[in-house]
This record gives sequence, C-alpha cells and structure tokens, in this order.
Amino acid sequence: MTQELVNGFKEKNVFQPAENYKKEVLVTHSETYRNRQERLSFWEERASTLSWFKKWDTVLEWNPPFAKWFEGGKLNASYNCLDRHLESSRRDKAAIIFEGEHGDSFVLTYSQLHREVCKFANVLKSLGVKKGEVVTIYMPMVPETVIAMLACARIGAPHSVVFGGFSAEALGNRIKDAGSKVLITSDGAFRRGKVLPIKENVCAALKSVQGIEKVVIVKHTETEVEIIENRDFWYHNLMKEASSDCSAEELDAEDRLFILYTSGTTGKPKGVVHTIGGYLTGVATTHQFIFDLKEDDIYWCTADLGWITGHSYLVYGPLANGTTILLFEGTPDYPKKDRFWEIIEKHKVTILYTAPTVIRTFMKWGSSYPEKRDLSSLRLLGTVGEPINPEAWKWFYKHIGNEKCPIVDTWWQTETGMIMLSPLSGVTSLKPGSCAVPFPGVKVEILNRLGQPVKKGEIGFVAITEPWPAMLRTLHRDDNRYQDTYWGKWPGKYFTGDGAKLDEDGYFWIIGRVDDVINVSGHRIGTAELENVLEEHPSVAEAACIGKTHEVKGQAIAAFVILKEGFARSEQLVNELKNYIAVKIGTIARPEDLYLTEELPKTRSGKIIRRILRDIAEGRTIGDTTTLADSAAVETLQKLNVS
Ligand code: PRX
Repeated sequence: MTQELVNGFKEKNVFQPAENYKKEVLVTHSETYRNRQERLSFWEERASTLSWFKKWDTVLEWNPPFAKWFEGGKLNASYNCLDRHLESSRRDKAAIIFEGEHGDSFVLTYSQLHREVCKFANVLKSLGVKKGEVVTIYMPMVPETVIAMLACARIGAPHSVVFGGFSAEALGNRIKDAGSKVLITSDGAFRRGKVLPIKENVCAALKSVQGIEKVVIVKHTETEVEIIENRDFWYHNLMKEASSDCSAEELDAEDRLFILYTSGTTGKPKGVVHTIGGYLTGVATTHQFIFDLKEDDIYWCTADLGWITGHSYLVYGPLANGTTILLFEGTPDYPKKDRFWEIIEKHKVTILYTAPTVIRTFMKWGSSYPEKRDLSSLRLLGTVGEPINPEAWKWFYKHIGNEKCPIVDTWWQTETGMIMLSPLSGVTSLKPGSCAVPFPGVKVEILNRLGQPVKKGEIGFVAITEPWPAMLRTLHRDDNRYQDTYWGKWPGKYFTGDGAKLDEDGYFWIIGRVDDVINVSGHRIGTAELENVLEEHPSVAEAACIGKTHEVKGQAIAAFVILKEGFARSEQLVNELKNYIAVKIGTIARPEDLYLTEELPKTRSGKIIRRILRDIAEGRTIGDTTTLADSAAVETLQKLNVS
C-alpha cells in the first residue's frame, strides 16, 4: 500500500515483517490472536507459566469496577523474578548490566541479584517493615533501586517509587498519602556530570511530613549528607550484617505489589494500585510476546524506574522472563551526543525500548552520531509514552534499525499496568504512527459519547471494554475516585482519557488526551496540579495551563496567569513563577511559556476554555467563541506577545 504525497513522491506507509524475521518469531498469528471466548483461557494458560505456591480457584471475579484475578492463588513476584531462575542455567546469566553515567559498568547475575535482594529483605524486616506496609523509594537509576523493589515484593510490603526528579514537596505529598514509615534513598544522583541533591530533598520533605521512622541511604555519589541519628542508616552498613537467607512470602494473588502515583485531572496525584498475580501475568506475557524475546537478548528499556514503564518493562516483565536488562543511569547527551549508540555498541544491545521524544531529539542532532557506531546487534525497537509522528518513526527505522528491525509502538498507561495496543513483531504489519491493534486477550475499542463503537475511519474515545489481568485495582484509599475517574463515563467500561481514530484495517491511531492532562515528553502532568501550585504563589490571582504542540517534547506547558492587585508584571516575576513550579513539582513541570494576562476566556458557567488558550499559544486563528462569557477576554489575550 502506498500513499501519494503532496510533493509527488510515493512513500511507503505499511511495513511488512521480513520473511527471515517471520520464520524465527516466537509466537504466530493463529496462536495468539484468539477469539474473545478464549480470552480467559488465554490468560489462565499464561498465568500457569509463572511459579505459584498454590493454584488459583477462579480466573476472574468481576464485580464492575472491581476485579479479582486468580483469586485463591498464592505466589511471590520476587520469587518469580529470581528464585525460579536459579534452578536453571540462568543462575549465572546476567540479570542486570549496569552502565553508570561515567562509563563505569558491572554485571549482577541472577544468583548475585537474588542474594542482594534476600539480604535487603532481611534489612527491611529488621527495620520493622511488615507485610502490607508501603515503603517509599526515592532513588536514582542504580541496581539498588531494583534490589529495594524486589526486596519489598519478597516480604509483601508494597513499594511506592517516587521519580528522583520530583521535588521535595512532591515527594512529601506522596509519602504522606502512602503512609510510609520507611524510606529508601541515596546520597545523590549523577546528572550530566553534576550531583543532584537526592538526600537533601528527603531532608526537606521530612521537615514537614510526619510518619517516616527510618531512612536507608545508598552511598552512590559520595556526597556529604546530613545524618539524623536513629532515623538515617547507611545501606552498606545494614547490608554487612544482613543474612542472605530469606524465603519469599507466600502472598495472595490479589495482595498489593505496588502503588504508583500519577497525575490526573484534579490537583491531587492518584495512587494507582497494582496487585501481584494478574499484573505479573500481564507484564511477563506482553514483554515476551511483543518483544519476541530470545534467551540471549540484551534488552534495554530507557525509562526511569520511577515511572510505570520502569516498573513493568525494566523490572517485573523482563526479570520474570529471565532476561538480561541494561540499566543506564545517565542521559543521551553526556558526555557526548552519541551516548546511546556507544552503549549499544559496548554491550551489544539487541532490543531498544524508548520514547518518541528521545527519538525526535536524536533526529535534531542528526544521523552522524549513530552512523559512527556499530548498531548491528539491534534486532527490535520499541516506543512508548506518546504518539510517534511517522517522520520520527521512519528516522528510527532507517538510522537506528538499519531498515531491518521491526518497531513496536506500544500504547498503555500507568493504570493499565501492561501494554494494551501494539503490533506483534514479525506478525503484524507495521504502520508508522499507529500502535496497531489490541494485544491478544484484551479488548480495547473506540467509542462515541454514548458508548457505542465508532465505525472505521471515525474518531472517538479509547475504552477498555473487558477487564484485563494487569488492570489497576483501585486508587490508594480512594475507591470513589477510582470509580468516578475511570468507570463513570460508561458503566463497566474503562475510560482511558485518550482520543483515537480507527482506520480501515482496524488499526488504532492515538490522537492524544481528551481530558485536562498534558503529556510532556511522555510524562503526564495534570493542568489542575499546575494551576493549584501557581495559585499558591502570593502574586497569583488565577492561572490556567495548557499543553501546546512542541517539536521535540510532543507537548510543552504554557501557563496564563492573572496577577493580584498590586503586583507589577516583569520578566523577573515570569521566571520566578516558572521556577516556583519546578521547585514545587519538579523540573519536568516547568512551563515553557508563561504569560501574564488580565483576562482568561471562560464559559458563562465559569469554566476556562482551554481550546482558546491553545489556539492563542500556538498562534492559530481563534475557533468558535460562541460559548464565551466575555469576548473582550480574547481580544486582551490576543494582544499577548506569544510569538
Ligand atoms: O495519552 C496516552 C500516552 O500516555 C498516556 C499514559 O501515560 P502514563 O500513565 O504516564 O504512561 C506512560 C507509559 C505507558 C496515555 O493515556 N501514551 C502512552 N503510550 C502511547 C501514548 N500515546 C500514543 N501512543 C503511545 N504508544
């Protein structure tokens, strides 16, 4: 299939799996794309590939919107990621290849990782951590973070990993909401040759948040840090004393594995709850099938451990499958802009899973960087986090994959836990810019407002219309918000917050969020969260934030602010307000643009019309303004200098 382009060239728009690739692929079409009736038996069969202490009684109990998968079954995620591999030749296989920011690297085999996890599980017990108590982890991209996660899983203490780039205040809010008594952190983190003050942020957070009784600090950057007696302990000292003998707790399939906070449409982040049995079944299966996993793969997922991609496709999915993972602490441009390609060459990486924003950055830097490196070990590429524009897809395919690696564009969310839409490499034809079709055993549809499926060629809302094993079970301490946010639009059907189009072949083309959530470089940030922070500043009377199209980040934040009486507009105040958000939430939330204005466009009922703000920020002609309460507001806004 080809499509005539305006410039007269014919451009290839569908990529068929190569014949030699098809022959070697792990799963075939008929094996995996089963019909709906077989959905539950498919998942049951997949669950049975994990190690269970006791088999489940029922596959699914569905009392919408509450699901229980594999009820009655007993297992342990840490056991599945470690112990069961020790009985085979995987015992001495590399589990983690660590690449530090300074080019230092080392390997932890499955048996070494198992030993460290057992020791740290004993450390946690000695600090008084009990089953069911949430442990907060605020760490850089180092093996100890994986060790801490798996140690929590081993003793049945759910972890809450907070992204290391979040500010002290954001960390404090998450600690408070989770009710943690124990926090795992490090002295610092390396970033582009500098040291980030991780422990300093912890100290600042703990000044205003009660509840943390013990802090464990990993020595990583050798930065001098404040130690509070009887509260703060060095990881290496505790590990010296710890026994490496710690059997994995026999936990219920529906016991909590972790909480992960994500932004929503209100100011308060949501604590998404995932449980053990269904989640592990979902992530192990999708990881194995979508990445067409082979025993000798060197698999590199570039996501931070603090996000869901880090949880599902850097830790739990790959380790449950006995994969060798590459864990990289640094950034793509340090010390030089070829760092990723240097790493692929050095460690002979076979699978690279990254984000469209990173690919667009590489495109900007040009193909001379990858061209100077040997990338021939690569055999499969993947993307996640935001829609990938066909141009970036084709650049990735050509310059990184050398036109021989399939690209899997994977669509999913913190809440879905596992990939829901994706091609299966070697099976599904690839269309640049489309995340293809639902994974076997999951039911995703595009619905109209009334909850009816749209026809091919139409746009609608992405909905998940049957429960799936890795689905979130609820929001931490907030069943009502869980119900309202996801299940309130259509009973029994999960509303994702995304809009999409279905093409003539039934492929999904994600357009983006239809709610008040901005996707900056693949990271979700709620407009309400940003506005609440701005409105806490003494100079701000009212604020409205929107996502504007950005060449590299996908979307960038633009803020419109009305100042209180008595505050004069100035460049300095604009910078102060931008920095205020960075300090309160984290640098990822720092607005690209901030406009001081006297009016905001509102409906007669007082709701801000963000569509108009987006038009203004992107310099477009203003669309329909008939619902506007005061048309003078638009005129005032148009006078802003937003070039
Ligand atoms: O809008 C979709 C976008 O990212 C959102 C989920 O964000 P988060 O929970 O932070 O998880 C990101 C990593 C899984 C979705 O609602 N998104 C994610 N993957 C894609 C995507 N948009 C388009 N294409 C994708 N492949």
